[in-house]
Amino acid sequence: MTRERWGSKLGVILAVAGSAVGLGNFLRFPGIAARNGGGAFMIPYFISFLLLGLPLMWIEWTIGRFGGGFEHSTAPGIFQTMWRKNRFIKYFGVIGIFGPVIIFSYYTYIESWLLGYSLYAVTGKYTACTDQIQMTEFLKGYQGLVSNEHFTNLGPAYIFFLITFLVNIVIVGFGVSRGIERFCKWALPLLLLIAALLVIRVLTLGTPDPAYPERSISNGLGFLWNPDWSELRKGKVWLEAAGQIFFTLSCGFGVILTYASYLRRQDDVALSGLSAAAANEMTEVVIGGSLVIPAAFVFLGQAGIQKVAGQNIFDLGFVTMPLVLQEMAFGQMFGFLWFFLLFVAGVTSSISLAMPAIAFLEDEFNLSRREACVMFGVVTFILCQPAIFFYGNGVLDEMDFWGTSVCLVVFATIEAVLFGWVFGMERAWTELHVGSDIRIPKIYRYIIKYVTPVFLMTILTIWFWQKWKDAILMTQIREEHPENVPFILITRVGLLGLFAFLALMVWIVWKRRPEKQEEIAI
Ligand code: ALA
Repeated sequence: MTRERWGSKLGVILAVAGSAVGLGNFLRFPGIAARNGGGAFMIPYFISFLLLGLPLMWIEWTIGRFGGGFEHSTAPGIFQTMWRKNRFIKYFGVIGIFGPVIIFSYYTYIESWLLGYSLYAVTGKYTACTDQIQMTEFLKGYQGLVSNEHFTNLGPAYIFFLITFLVNIVIVGFGVSRGIERFCKWALPLLLLIAALLVIRVLTLGTPDPAYPERSISNGLGFLWNPDWSELRKGKVWLEAAGQIFFTLSCGFGVILTYASYLRRQDDVALSGLSAAAANEMTEVVIGGSLVIPAAFVFLGQAGIQKVAGQNIFDLGFVTMPLVLQEMAFGQMFGFLWFFLLFVAGVTSSISLAMPAIAFLEDEFNLSRREACVMFGVVTFILCQPAIFFYGNGVLDEMDFWGTSVCLVVFATIEAVLFGWVFGMERAWTELHVGSDIRIPKIYRYIIKYVTPVFLMTILTIWFWQKWKDAILMTQIREEHPENVPFILITRVGLLGLFAFLALMVWIVWKRRPEKQEEIAI
């Protein structure tokens, strides 16, 4: 069977940029930036981009294309081809399939809220909610946490979830070029167009409330862009900035290397990786930074915006933004544009999260795309159910914790060390420049070899030091919601079981196919 390929260079850049541009850019970024003091956050954020994000982008593009040359699209096979003498490294690669499966299983559910909300914006279903409390009640009703005059059960949310889930599976089912590439080629320009319309509207808001002259758009932008050097000593700001960089660039998930595995040997990765990263950052800081923060600032002021973001990272997007937008002329239309923008951005990301598991089944078990999609669909559909029905018991948050906080950093650390130290920097640098359209500044040789792994290990160490014990012992959950403990425990057992199952699949593959064993011996 001939290996699938991307149709064009622009296509693959748009697909990777699509994977990167997602809920992280428009919802998570403003929330995290606001709760970390706006301007205080941006300095660690940009440093993390240059020392972690960009190097990891190049690493994943390079090792993906390298592994694709051996017919491997996913981390177990790619890691094994990079370190042939080590029989265990492929099991570390399991994280690169496990993480995306877990994240996909709750990300699509959140994505489906956006589809629901875009419809409700048009039909005016939440127009009667005029303050934060009422809008929060609306959201809780939608999520099935309470029964109220807006929603009496989870039915509507479940229907939107089914549609969203199906949309994802169908796009991926059409394949890399005919499905993902074709979708991203129209989705990204559409997304930018909608975002531009919203930015123009927000930036022309002026100072809507004369009682609060300091709540102006320019002060809102100043809140994000005036650097505050005093906060740099706080470790938490650095951790959150680095975490946001991983999440937003889709680095450390295991998805970019899968996308890159469908490149040809002579296809450029240096400029393409840079372009995808730059496109994401442009969308995040320029567009994402000009939407929620200034819009919420003029209505809530600095203290208000920090308070809302501190309570729940998504509240600025789901609660504050609809309130702000419905104050404007054509509020329903702008509300629709906001939520639909987020929905499209979400889909371009979630389809990339589906790819590693599907590609693994195709490559290593010789399943057809259709068979792989059905199997992936069935497994993730089952995994979605606890996230949906036990959302109020903290199951989704628990999946998010293991999927993003833990897996991303661990996986990124492994791939950075493998690339710079095991594969070897000399070889890695040459591989990165095969067919490249640019030469990367030499300083990145040292950054990739020394700075990125040290930075990653520091994050891991601090994280272990500060959070490991509490995370394992569920200290906060036991104090605040002891009734959720059984749900969290069952989720953990389930996640462990899934990891073990994937590791078993890897073991079976390498046992069954002797030619793969030979690679180890070379
Ligand atoms: N990179 C994706 C996002 O930002 C996952 O949502």
